[in-house]
Amino acid sequence: MEKPAPLGCGLGLRPVYYDEILATRPPVDWFEVISENYMIPGGRPLAMLERFRADYPIVMHGVSMSLASTDPLDFDYLRHLKELAARIEPAWISDHVAWTGVHGINLHDLLPIPYTKESLDHVVDRISRVQDFLKRRLVVENASTYVSFEQSEMDEWTFVAEMAKRADCLLLLDVNNVFVSGFNHGFDAARFIDSVPVERVVQFHMAGHTDNETHRIDTHDQPVCEEVWTLYEQARRRFGNVSAMIERDDNFPPFSELLDELARMRAIDAKIVAERARGAA
Ligand SMILES: [Fe+2]
Repeated sequence: MEKPAPLGCGLGLRPVYYDEILATRPPVDWFEVISENYMIPGGRPLAMLERFRADYPIVMHGVSMSLASTDPLDFDYLRHLKELAARIEPAWISDHVAWTGVHGINLHDLLPIPYTKESLDHVVDRISRVQDFLKRRLVVENASTYVSFEQSEMDEWTFVAEMAKRADCLLLLDVNNVFVSGFNHGFDAARFIDSVPVERVVQFHMAGHTDNETHRIDTHDQPVCEEVWTLYEQARRRFGNVSAMIERDDNFPPFSELLDELARMRAIDAKIVAERARGAA
């Protein structure tokens, strides 16, 4: 399987950090942007994005494709996404295994699905049609979930692996989402990571979440927690050199704290590379 080249360690590009990034040109290998924030022709957001694109590789990450919805695919949305991609030339385009609305109503949330053969057929068909339209492989992310369905016929990781194979898409493994969903539903996050096909994964997401004791919510407003760092190391050992980045969307810290998290990511990567070099010697 041909995969895009790894980009290194990146961050989510957020307006609160624009000035600092432009002024300091920090050692971030690449940035991921939320596609919908730039899908307006002209204007400041797009002008800013083009400035960053001149200096850094960019990945486009969407939250509105609604791949699992039973509404028709929104080809207006896909057309705008394709136009943005033609302008920015991202390394890839990603979205989620989720639905965001139905009957024309957008609920602005990534909602869960039952893991059934019927929903698998449905999602595979929609990913295939999106890929045909965009004329590129889509990268699809596991979302965090807070409810599960009695109708489910398979584990989430079986669904994701089968979906990727049948749709011939690539995968974004959100390590924090695996941990959050594993805690909420009582499955083993390590088993999830060990079950995802290595040849499909091109990106990791890392993020912090809120621990409400009985359940955890994927809020992206905290530093990455220790358990998720442990899973990151497991994922890095299994998937090798995969582009990784940190998502921070609220309770924004000084930019230097995000750079510290990136340094920790790089240290884990370097440790594994050194171990492998010693093992090969
Ligand atoms: Fe994510």
